[in-house]
Amino acid sequence: MKTKHLKILVLAAAFACGGAFAQNPIVIKFSHVVANDTPKGKGAQRFKELAEKATNGRVKVELYPNSQLYKDKEELEALQLGAVQMLAPSLAKFGPLGVKEFEVFDLPFIFPDKAALYRVTEGPVGKELMARLEPKGIKGLAYWDNGFKEMTANKPLRAVSDFKGLKMRIQSSKVLDAQMRALGANPQVLAFSEVYQSLQTGVVDGVENTPSNLYTQKMHEVQKHLTVSDHGYIGYAVIVNKKFWDSLPPDVRGQLEGAMKEATKYSNQIAQEENDQAMEGIRKAGKTTIYTLTPAEKEQWRAALLPVRKEMAARLGKDTIAAIEKATAVPVAAK
Ligand code: LMR
Repeated sequence: MKTKHLKILVLAAAFACGGAFAQNPIVIKFSHVVANDTPKGKGAQRFKELAEKATNGRVKVELYPNSQLYKDKEELEALQLGAVQMLAPSLAKFGPLGVKEFEVFDLPFIFPDKAALYRVTEGPVGKELMARLEPKGIKGLAYWDNGFKEMTANKPLRAVSDFKGLKMRIQSSKVLDAQMRALGANPQVLAFSEVYQSLQTGVVDGVENTPSNLYTQKMHEVQKHLTVSDHGYIGYAVIVNKKFWDSLPPDVRGQLEGAMKEATKYSNQIAQEENDQAMEGIRKAGKTTIYTLTPAEKEQWRAALLPVRKEMAARLGKDTIAAIEKATAVPVAAK
């Protein structure tokens, strides 16, 4: 009889708590700039499902994709102010925040393959870089993949000289600025949400991006030529407002960490396939001529872009570069 009473009491307490949490869940506003149908968009949706399930409804994750709430620069300010709790900006967008070392991920031809990339993100360098966010009131939770970038314009881009004088949109990274200049192009920083229209109206002539971003933003509809160059990488840091994160009940934080771990695995698993499918979509749309660089052409691009590594060594930090060099096992700075 006693046990039965205890059980009822426990159930009632659990119900009361559940009810209270259901009325007043902890809300995580997760804002990002890409479409739902991308590696990041799908990763965010998976995190929402897993987080809400793991916390039994104590946490509600609200997703705001496609720059619905904020554009690139504003979303970082919003996170610091606590207007949103979670973001996953591209690693190329942390310079304005004062964490410029993330721009090592933008160095042209730095990662020979994904395995080399993971040695960096999952190793001490990845941890070290995330730790640099903390003095800014931000905690880094995970690295999410997108993929390797291709170049597009309304003219074929094969030789380095084809870039001469082209206005090329870049993310807000000084490394990408140097990269475009090394090719002879004029880089222009634009928020992701502004790229399609800027291409359509001729504000810029071309872009670099992953197939999934190009396709889901319909950029291929306003670019006649795409060159498969895989010259650079786009990936993300999933970040939270540190004060918010530290104030969570420890059990909830643990459940969210578990959900993030699973969502990261999922997002990184699907990234390549999403990009392959997007490339197929671009091909099928029939509006863009797709060209793959020959090994000789790629060598010419690589040679033109190698000085960027040396040029950026002071900005990115010699130690960071040396650590990446070790992890990727390719020479980073021209000696
Ligand atoms: C871009 O601005 O091109 C990308 O960083 C967008 C994104 O989040 O993938």
